Amino acid sequence: MTFNMNDIIFKKREGGKLSKDEIDWLITGYVAGDIPDYQVSALLMAIFFRGLDREETFNLTNAMRYSGDTIDLSPIKGIKVDKHSTGGVGDKTTLIVAPLASACGVPIAKMSGRGLGFTGGTVDKMESIPGFRTALAPEEFLNQVNEVGMAVIGQTAHITPADKKLYALRDVTSTVDNFGLIASSIMSKKLAAGSDAIVLDVKCGDGAFMENLDDAVTLANLMVDIGTDAGRKTVAAITDMSQPLGRAVGNSLEVIEAIETLKGKGPEDITELAEKLSGIMVFLGGKASSPEEGYAMTKRALADGSGLKQLRRFIEAQGGNPDVTEDYRLFPQASVKDQLKAEKDGFVAEIAARTIGLASQHTGAGRATKESEIDLAAGVYLHKKVGDKVAAGETLAVFYGNDRAKVDAAMAEARKAFVITDEPCQRPVLIKEVIGLED
Ligand code: URA
Repeated sequence: MTFNMNDIIFKKREGGKLSKDEIDWLITGYVAGDIPDYQVSALLMAIFFRGLDREETFNLTNAMRYSGDTIDLSPIKGIKVDKHSTGGVGDKTTLIVAPLASACGVPIAKMSGRGLGFTGGTVDKMESIPGFRTALAPEEFLNQVNEVGMAVIGQTAHITPADKKLYALRDVTSTVDNFGLIASSIMSKKLAAGSDAIVLDVKCGDGAFMENLDDAVTLANLMVDIGTDAGRKTVAAITDMSQPLGRAVGNSLEVIEAIETLKGKGPEDITELAEKLSGIMVFLGGKASSPEEGYAMTKRALADGSGLKQLRRFIEAQGGNPDVTEDYRLFPQASVKDQLKAEKDGFVAEIAARTIGLASQHTGAGRATKESEIDLAAGVYLHKKVGDKVAAGETLAVFYGNDRAKVDAAMAEARKAFVITDEPCQRPVLIKEVIGLED
């Protein structure tokens, strides 16, 4: 079937509904290079203003999902469960939930991304472990999950090429933040990656795509609907990203915090989130009869050290040095360390996640462009979190890096993130809502 791109743009501009055939045709043509960027840009802007309904979003997701390779995880025994975060600051959850769920018997065969801008990515974090390989041949990937129980690799180049092209175009045409476009982008990759069930961590707040709860709920519902329509058990938790998650922001710092968390010594927020999300994964993976039982199991896996043991096995299987869990000096080291101190007494009312993410990027921990080299030792460690009492002169955060000027720039940026008030203040609610567990 063939269509005219101008007619499709006009239809959407006027608020019409695109058919499955039209969507399939335009995605195929765009990936093949037959439809130029300028026409797709116009369509994206029309979608931005007119939106996509549930059926259009599902059809766009599927068109992108099948635009390249899809992963067949059937050689792996058991119910495979994936977890995805919509992106945030200090979000090292995968490095904790994957070993915990795996220690409870759920096979984890996961693809992760790199960080961009002020948000971090699991692949960069894992590369701070000496020797760790994030690229495995398909057979090696599947064998490792069968033998060790988990594998996490970088996304291969051949998965969802349509999303790669469209995302790059959205990035430069102010059309990223649209519900249907975000939901189809994320879910096309999750569905192509082949797991049987998906747990989505939809971040909400200043350091996330969705800054308010209503928008986060809308996005979460849309993604749960897409997953369900595609026959995958899909659950979404809406979680706080108004301040960074945990205390560490930056690659090796975050891996160390994940290890500490698996030793039972992690910050309260990341521990709670990791136990809850992995508990849901254990339930969806059929290893617990309820989310509560799954939660009790992952709490136990954390307390008895089996999650940590699983992390060590996973690191070793992917070529990394498992002794990093006992000796943090094996990680890349920062030659510059400096402290940001409080200027007055009071209570920490706000630590703007986006600003801390940008500050961490300035230390060298994040990329300004896809091609930028990152400093794996660089980043920020928060000594105070929202709700804490602070005295003038006390350390709010420590900055790490290997370039004095970059650390100075980061500290200047980060000062803007802290709001200190005279009145005591509440800690934000961490898990705001869970969608998709009802039946
Ligand atoms: N993450 C994605 O993968 N796609 C989006 O559109 C937004 C966040």
